[in-house]
Amino acid sequence: MNAPSATGPLERRSFLGKLAGLMMGAMAAVVAFAAGRYTLHPALEQGPGGRTPWTDAGLLEDIPDGQPVKRSVVISQIAGWGQFNVQRLIWIVRRGEKLEVFSATCPHLGCTVNAAPNGFLCPCHGSAWNAEGDRIGGPARRGLDALEYEVREGVVYVRYQYFKPSIEEKIAVA
Ligand code: FES
Repeated sequence: MNAPSATGPLERRSFLGKLAGLMMGAMAAVVAFAAGRYTLHPALEQGPGGRTPWTDAGLLEDIPDGQPVKRSVVISQIAGWGQFNVQRLIWIVRRGEKLEVFSATCPHLGCTVNAAPNGFLCPCHGSAWNAEGDRIGGPARRGLDALEYEVREGVVYVRYQYFKPSIEEKIAVA
């Protein structure tokens, strides 16, 4: 006569049931993670604290003193659920070790601002700013939009941002 088995059919069924439960749980966790990442995608792309990331604006040593230099920076932009790289223009003015970095987007209606003999001028409706970016005329209601920057190991990094147009206050929109 055979000795009774150490693991009877009931114990085997219980083990298989637990294994199936664990596998289902793992699959649910994977699906939940993917769904959560999809839902939070735009917020995650903003960088820490919901802010736009730093972008490389070139070498500091290439910027002459007191002369505005136009640079383009590449930023990641989210449109719907797609993500695209776009180029945006900025102005950098160096005064010794100090920089002023401005968005080249006119705060009136968004044309590209040019350098002028005594500052900056918008070709669309004639808004003008002095070399420090302060508004001196035209329909724009504020100075040029200054951008955050920092210099690391001789490279200028800029946090490009969009701001609400046509208003006096400088309010970031993305
Ligand atoms: S868009 Fe620049 S002055 Fe109107």
